[in-house]
Amino acid sequence: MWPDRRLLELLKVEFPIVQAPMAGVMDADLVIAAAQGGALGSLPCAILSVEKAREQVNIIRQRVSAPIAMNFFCHEPVEVDPKAEARWMQRLEPYYKELGLDPAAPINVANRAPFDAAMCELVEELKPEVVSFHFGLPGQALLKRVRAVGCIVISSATTVKEAIWLEENGADVIIAQGAEAGGHRGMFLTENIAEQPGTFALVPQVVDAVKVPVIAAGGIADGRGIAAAFALGAAGVQIGTAYLRCPESKLIAPARSALAQARDDSTVITNVMTGRPARGVPNRTMRELGPISPDAPAFPHAATGLAPLKAAAEKFGKVDFTNLWAGQAVRLGREMPAAELTRALAGAALLRLSQMAG
Ligand SMILES: Cc1cc2nc3c(=O)[nH]c(=O)nc-3n(C[C@H](O)[C@H](O)[C@H](O)COP(=O)(O)O)c2cc1C
Repeated sequence: MWPDRRLLELLKVEFPIVQAPMAGVMDADLVIAAAQGGALGSLPCAILSVEKAREQVNIIRQRVSAPIAMNFFCHEPVEVDPKAEARWMQRLEPYYKELGLDPAAPINVANRAPFDAAMCELVEELKPEVVSFHFGLPGQALLKRVRAVGCIVISSATTVKEAIWLEENGADVIIAQGAEAGGHRGMFLTENIAEQPGTFALVPQVVDAVKVPVIAAGGIADGRGIAAAFALGAAGVQIGTAYLRCPESKLIAPARSALAQARDDSTVITNVMTGRPARGVPNRTMRELGPISPDAPAFPHAATGLAPLKAAAEKFGKVDFTNLWAGQAVRLGREMPAAELTRALAGAALLRLSQMAG
């Protein structure tokens, strides 16, 4: 028995497990498989067009009747700063030369747009049961429209202060994202990554500070981690990295093998890939230009100059310029279909919880 059933009842899922949205490395296939296994599947929409997001949701709806989450970024957009851009291109120029690319050729601007009126219209049209946000919440006018459709609103907090802010500003459920987590820190009231608490310290303090159900995220990859999250007062878990090695993820082969080789001490936080701090396995860009560099333009503009390098290197099977986002529990990941993994995670957690109770 799950010690806290609030999330199960609110989300109407079989297990209190959220398959984390992971932009760039997954699509409808992972959402479908995780949902078939009994988790809440989340579709990352941050780098999708409205048309693509609609297509993906329609694919999911045709295959499963389970509730789903659509996930969006809601960072404050920052204009391109030509000086910062020029400095960054200067740092990248040797790589352009090495790969035979022209650094002066026009590049499409990195496409991580915040949640806007067009995406909000799509949410109104598709009515996902859950909408989750990263980097805070959208403005009140947009949020009101999302809530009016009946969507449950979820967002990530990396500190108690952010959790309280989210509750006060309309989140129905809060993800407490610890420093162990793979990908971008959801931080939005601070930029200081050195201060981010780990999951074990953050979850109980967030649980104490807010009334809404709390989902633990960061470093949870097996039944032990899930049971620990419940012991800390969480009503559920959000798991990203552990789903990356499932056949349904869209990780390219060299990224898959980099993750398969990673250990407990293999991940670091970097800002050079996108301009915002994110945790991943170091690639060549992170090793040679970072992991933290003052030259990286603001989010998401650091990714713009890297895009042609990424595309060219991947043609040679190299992930020198590819995000290898993963959390500290990457070693615990298993190559297993996502539905099976979800059931295995839930089964192991329930067994561990009953052993602890007994
Ligand atoms: C590859 C990758 C991509 C991610 N992309 C997103 C995203 O698009 N939106 C989001 O809200 N969170 C994103 N995250 C963060 C997850 O929501 C979650 O906080 C994290 O995966 C939990 O930690 P874990 O990776 O240790 O399980 C991403 C994480 C990873 C590993």
